[in-house]
Amino acid sequence: MSTKIASARISEKSSKLLQDLNNSLPFDKVLYREDIEGSRAHASMLCEQNIISVEDYNKIDAGLLEILEEVESGEFKLDGNDEDIHMAIEGRLTEKVGDAGKRLHTARSRNDQVALDFRLYVQNNTKTIASLLLENIRTLVNVAEEHAETMLPGMTHLQHAQPINFGYHMLAYASMFKRDYERFLSSYERNNYSPIGCAALAGTPHNISRQLTSDKLGFTAPTLNCLDTVSDRDFALEILFNISTMMMHMSRLSEELILWSAAEFKWVTLSDRHATGSSIMPQKKNPDIPELLRGKTGRVNGNLVALLTVMKGLPLAYNKDMQEDKEGVFDSVRTATLSLQVLEEMIADMTVNKDAMEDSCMVGHLSATDLADYLVKEAGLPFRDAYHITGDAVNLAEKKGLDISELALDDLQSIDERIGEGVVALLDNRASMNARMSEGGTATVRTLEQVESLRGWLSKQK
Ligand code: ARG
Repeated sequence: MSTKIASARISEKSSKLLQDLNNSLPFDKVLYREDIEGSRAHASMLCEQNIISVEDYNKIDAGLLEILEEVESGEFKLDGNDEDIHMAIEGRLTEKVGDAGKRLHTARSRNDQVALDFRLYVQNNTKTIASLLLENIRTLVNVAEEHAETMLPGMTHLQHAQPINFGYHMLAYASMFKRDYERFLSSYERNNYSPIGCAALAGTPHNISRQLTSDKLGFTAPTLNCLDTVSDRDFALEILFNISTMMMHMSRLSEELILWSAAEFKWVTLSDRHATGSSIMPQKKNPDIPELLRGKTGRVNGNLVALLTVMKGLPLAYNKDMQEDKEGVFDSVRTATLSLQVLEEMIADMTVNKDAMEDSCMVGHLSATDLADYLVKEAGLPFRDAYHITGDAVNLAEKKGLDISELALDDLQSIDERIGEGVVALLDNRASMNARMSEGGTATVRTLEQVESLRGWLSKQK
């Protein structure tokens, strides 16, 4: 097809280098479905508003449907010299249906056309990513229910802190993904407005109905201001930010899985389906999948910063800089979609090594805080004094090569006679975990309540 379909003022053939720099078809061809859907809605509105004839409309619509089939069957390759997907499809339509095809671009510009196509793409993929998030939340909740009694050392500063259960730990990630899901949905609602009919920047003198195209395309309403609409890429920035935040969560989970698979922990074993070998060390099993998920977080962050930077100095309205909006979004969407699918499979398939986790709980005096809490509750000590007495108990345990939960009552009373009989039972790690009954706490019953709460929430999502 001619690269000059829209170049009334340009007589010379474009330089090859200009085409290489300028043409977006090599990457925006993925928008062919959205472009055809948008054009069909636009043509149908033009016909209803008596701007084009029914005859022309029928030709345009049949032509566009044929082009859709040609692209999907590979007959129409989208690898020509056309500047972009919009010109490629319009050119092909005109080849097929003649003058009727040339009427399609009435009352629109590529500026609102690209804003529409790209927004449809972002909206569709927002839904796909949101539903993959739900799958991940479901899986995490299932693992959480199974392991609401599996104890492990909860950490701060990556140092053993207090006993928690593995289910509770998984629910922390389920909570992050729930917020991510809600962020994608709220972006969807905020951006669900139709750009088409804004034309180049100022609207059009044709008697169009933006409400009609908006309804046909499933938007909430047409956008308010055309100048803003053709200049706006907030919807693209939002999906990039939402993906970055979600991948940051995934990266933290990946980091933990990598640590937990190391010999020093051995808390989880990733299935052989999700691990790879070394080319030189035959004994090795590497956690490449979580490493890649962690690594890919870097590139999606890059895509976000790149588009923020592209947009920051642009005068209104459309500037060709904005063509740089697409590749990063396509890349982040592809990355997010694949990563979420892999993560879900990996979590569902991993083995949780309960014994190794529970053995680790005997290191680090995890229940020390319970002694201090006991002295506050039962002996009325100020917390700071109780804290120091507990420090002495920890030192004694260290000297004896024991965990604080293994100290005998006599040992404890040698430190402070206000320590009564009940303490020994309180210092047991499981008792310590189950004592954390406050709302949102780690006690097994509280963990199971959180499981139920998330299940209730999941059942209400579409
Ligand atoms: N390929 C362009 C893009 O992706 C389409 C819009 C072109 N509009 C224009 N006035 N040159 O941004």
